[in-house]
Amino acid sequence: MAPLILLLTLSLLQPPPSAANLHKTAAFRSHSSSAAAEAPTTYFEVTRPIPLPSTEPCSHSILHNQEFANTYSKPPILVKYTPKCRDLGKVVLEWTATCRGRQFDRIFGIWLGGVELLRSCTAEPTPAGIVWTVKKDVTRYRSLFLKEQNVSVYMGNLVDTTYTGIYHVNLTFHFYPSTGNHLDVSRAPAELILPISRAPPLNGGAWFEIRNSTDVQGKELRIPNNAYRAVMEVYVSFHENDEFWYSNFPNEYISVNNLTGVPGNGPFREVVVRLDDAVAGAVWPFTVIYTGGVNPFFWRPVSAIGSFNLPTYDIEITPFLGKLLDSKPHSFGFSVTNGLNVWFVDANLHLWLDSEWERTSGEVLEHTDSSSSIKSRVSSSEGKFSAKFSRSVAARGRVESSRGVITTESRQELRYKNKMELRKGGGFQVLEQVIKVRGYVEAVTASGAVFSCGSSRSKMGVRLYSEANEDSFKGNVKLVLDEIWRERSEFGSRFERLKNSQSAGGYLVVENKSLRGLGRTEQDYRYHGDDYCYFRKIRSANYTILHDKESSNCKPI
Ligand SMILES: *[C@@H]1O[C@H](CO)[C@@H](O)[C@H](O)[C@H]1NC(C)=O
Ligand SMILES: *[C@@H]1O[C@H](CO)[C@@H](O)[C@H](O)[C@H]1NC(C)=O
Ligand SMILES: *[C@@H]1O[C@H](CO)[C@@H](O)[C@H](O)[C@H]1NC(C)=O
Ligand SMILES: *[C@@H]1O[C@H](CO)[C@@H](O)[C@H](O)[C@H]1NC(C)=O
Ligand SMILES: *[C@@H]1O[C@H](CO)[C@@H](O)[C@H](O)[C@H]1NC(C)=O
Ligand SMILES: *[C@@H]1O[C@H](CO)[C@@H](O)[C@H](O)[C@H]1NC(C)=O
Repeated sequence: MAPLILLLTLSLLQPPPSAANLHKTAAFRSHSSSAAAEAPTTYFEVTRPIPLPSTEPCSHSILHNQEFANTYSKPPILVKYTPKCRDLGKVVLEWTATCRGRQFDRIFGIWLGGVELLRSCTAEPTPAGIVWTVKKDVTRYRSLFLKEQNVSVYMGNLVDTTYTGIYHVNLTFHFYPSTGNHLDVSRAPAELILPISRAPPLNGGAWFEIRNSTDVQGKELRIPNNAYRAVMEVYVSFHENDEFWYSNFPNEYISVNNLTGVPGNGPFREVVVRLDDAVAGAVWPFTVIYTGGVNPFFWRPVSAIGSFNLPTYDIEITPFLGKLLDSKPHSFGFSVTNGLNVWFVDANLHLWLDSEWERTSGEVLEHTDSSSSIKSRVSSSEGKFSAKFSRSVAARGRVESSRGVITTESRQELRYKNKMELRKGGGFQVLEQVIKVRGYVEAVTASGAVFSCGSSRSKMGVRLYSEANEDSFKGNVKLVLDEIWRERSEFGSRFERLKNSQSAGGYLVVENKSLRGLGRTEQDYRYHGDDYCYFRKIRSANYTILHDKESSNCKPI
C-alpha cells in the first residue's frame, strides 16, 4: 500500500511538469463550495512591521492589476523603471495579489536590473477568493533605484478547466525620506550591486536551475578596480524532488523497500558558493514550506515562516578582494550537495566603492579549505537513520584603500543533525532536524584597532510527523527560526534577536478526488531589537483566527 503522499506525486500529471512548483499535496482539491458567496479571505505571513517615518512616501507603481495566467516557462513581465522619486532614505516594496478558484502554490521572483529583490510563493486560492500583501524593506538595493532599469517579474502559472486560479498583481515601490537615524547609516547600502543571475532570454525566470549534485551554474564577473568591501547575498528555493529535501528518504531505504518515484539522496543539502572553483562559503537553508506543502490546510490563512518572503543568505567576500581586484573576470558558481531536480539559485554581489581612489588593492592572506572539513555520520537500523554534518569556512584578506590598510577575517561555522524514523514502507515518517549557523566578520586597521565587527547566529529546526495511507493523511510539523545579529562599526552598533516558531497539525481525507481536511496552526513570533520590539502570538484552525495578540512592549526574551 503506497502512502498517500507518494500516490499524489505520481498522479500529478496535470498541469504538465512544472519546474517551479508542483507540490506533493497541492493537487488536493479543496472543497469549500459553501464559501462561494463570501468575501475574499486575507492570507498573511506573521512578521514584524517595517519601521517607517511618519511622512507620506513617494510611490511608484510598477504593476497594476497585472494578470498571471499561462505564464509558465514564458519570459518574465518586463516593466521599465525610471527614477522619479528623489529622497531614497528608505525603500519598501509592496506586492498585493488576488486569486479566485483553484490553483497550485507558485514560486515567483522580482528582479531590478537582473538583481533579485524578492523571492516568494503565492497563496493557494479558494473559490471565494483570497488576497495577500507582502512588504519588504529593499533599502539595501538603493543604488539600483537611482537609474533607469528593467523590473522583471516571473511567476510560472498554468490555467485550465480544473486549475482555474489566475493571479492579479499590484507591485509598488514606496520611497521614504531619510530620518537621520543611526540605523540608516550603520547599514549603508552598497554603491554597486552586480547580479549573478541568468542573462536573457529569461524564460522561466532569471534564477539558475540546478538539477543534480554535479551541476554547477553561475557567471563570470569583472569587478570595479576601486572596491573595498564585498558581500554576496544568495537567494535559494527548492522544488519538485527536493521541495521537502529534509524528509527525503535514504537511498538504501528506497531500494530495500522497492519504492519507485520517491525522492531520495537522504535529508542533507547545502548550496556551495564557489569563487574561481574554491569554496567561498555555504548556505544551509531554512526549511521554508510553501503554501501547499505537507497539508495545505495548515497555511490558511497564516502561511509558513519565510513562505511569502524567502530568507536570503549573506557570504562575506571582502577577504577575497585581493584576488578579484585584477581587472579580470572571475567565476562565481553554485552547486547543491546531494541536490535533486530542482533548485532555483541566484545571487547579488554588493560592492562598496572607494570615492577617493581609482584603484584599491589587496591580498588574500588565508583561506581554509572547507571541503575537507565536512564530517558525516550516517547510521541506520530498522528504519532509523541519523546524520550529522559540519562545515567551516574561514578567510582572511587585506585591502588597501583611502580608508587605510584593513584586514578582514570572516568565518562560517555550520552544524547539521537529522534523525529520521521510517516505517510501513515510508507511510509512517518522523523526523527532527536542527541546523546551527554562526557567522563572524572582523575588520582591523594596520595598527590592530577594530574597524568593524559583526556576528550572527541562527538555529533552524524542523520536526515532522506524518502517517498516510491511500485515502487519508494525518500529521504535524514544527518550524523554528531563532536568530541573533550583532554589529559594531564606525557608524554605531546594532543588536537584533528573533525567536519565531510555528506548530501545525491536522488531517486530510480524499473523497471522490476532492479533499476534506483540517489544519490547526500556532505561531509565536518575538523580535527584540535595539530599535524596537514586536511580539505576536496567533492561533488558527479551519480558516479561522482563534487567538491573535500583538504587542510592541519590549521585554527581554
Ligand atoms: C530593458 O529591456 C528592453 C527589452 O528587452 C531592452 O531593450 C533594454 O535595453 C532594457 N533596458 C535596460 C536598462 O537594461
Ligand atoms: C490594484 O490597483 C488597482 C488600481 O490602482 C486597484 O483598483 C486595485 O484595487 C488594486 N488591487 C489590489 C488587490 O489591491
Ligand atoms: C546534471 O545536470 C546537468 C545540467 O542539467 C546535466 O547536463 C547533467 O547531465 C546532469 N548529470 C546527471 C548525472 O544527471
Ligand atoms: C523487493 O523486491 C524483491 C525482488 O522482487 C523482493 O524479493 C523483496 O521481497 C521486495 N521487498 C519488499 C519490501 O517488498
Ligand atoms: C462519489 O461520487 C459518486 C458518483 O458521483 C456518488 O454516487 C457518491 O455518493 C460520492 N461519494 C461521496 C462520499 O461523496
Ligand atoms: C470547518 O469550518 C466549516 C465552515 O465553517 C465547518 O462546516 C466544518 O465543520 C469545520 N470543520 C471542522 C473539522 O471543524
